[in-house]
Amino acid sequence: MPARPLAGRTALVTGAAVRLGRAIALGLAGAGADVVIHYGGSRDDALGTVRDAEALGVRAIALSADLADAAAIPGLVDAAAAAFGRLDVLVNNAARFDRQAIGSITAADWDASLDVNLRAPFLCAQAAAPHLRAASRPEGEGALIVNMADLSGVQAWSEHIQHGVSKAGVVHVTRVLARALAPDIRVNAIVPGAILPPPDAAEGEDWGRLTKKRVPLQRVGEPADVVRTVLYLVQSPFVTGAVLHVDGGESLIGPIGR
Ligand SMILES: NC(=O)c1ccc[n+]([C@@H]2O[C@H](COP(=O)([O-])OP(=O)(O)OC[C@H]3O[C@@H](n4cnc5c(N)ncnc54)[C@H](OP(=O)(O)O)[C@@H]3O)[C@@H](O)[C@H]2O)c1
Repeated sequence: MPARPLAGRTALVTGAAVRLGRAIALGLAGAGADVVIHYGGSRDDALGTVRDAEALGVRAIALSADLADAAAIPGLVDAAAAAFGRLDVLVNNAARFDRQAIGSITAADWDASLDVNLRAPFLCAQAAAPHLRAASRPEGEGALIVNMADLSGVQAWSEHIQHGVSKAGVVHVTRVLARALAPDIRVNAIVPGAILPPPDAAEGEDWGRLTKKRVPLQRVGEPADVVRTVLYLVQSPFVTGAVLHVDGGESLIGPIGR
């Protein structure tokens, strides 16, 4: 395998300023892809990710858009494709993580979660499809979309209702898009387990210790576990509609404590 298998290809990663999105963008850059770093509010971090990607020898740019604003999405995707003249990979990573008790969830709360977590990945995919199709190379791995789902979309977490429903939607939209966009564009999803402490982890809570106890593989994941899976999907031309759990086996058990 070449040292830089994605040289000459371009990837757009949403929510790539920090955390998993940043790791995914740098993983793709490390494999040789030029990267478009989308961010919402984390401008300084996004510029830091751009600098770190450039240090890996690729081109990188940061673009901002509010993914809750449906009208902003075509412009974001078109600008991403124009930045380096093509678009080969879209990673729908950005998301909200809403925890709310039943009885308090308003229609606005529901929409806020679904708009960013489910509508935006779909609209990004739809806007990206013409660019991805143009970049699809019959002799190579072709173009693809990777959607970041969540265990909350396959288990029933009673305190993350709208989040879990949005992520269940991400799993299904992956499957329908895999058919709708075939044969030119592959569409797959990753279901991460416990990789980084969630934004709602209580202050002082021993998240890592509690997680290790319930996960069959007895450890929390690392961003590298997700990055490796993204790179596998990018380089796997016969894989579409797959929903890959990267969770140490956590999906095999119930939603303990959720
Ligand atoms: N971390 C984990 O262990 C884990 C586990 C399971 C699933 N996942 C999934 O993996 C993905 C990444 O996880 P993460 O924990 O790294 O995510 P995160 O830090 O919670 O969020 C990633 C980014 O999403 C962006 N975002 C949120 N709302 C936005 C909006 N309206 N417009 C534009 N950008 C918006 C934010 O960008 P700005 O900061 O620039 O505003 C944020 O930095 C998510 O889809 C998540 O559901 C993660």
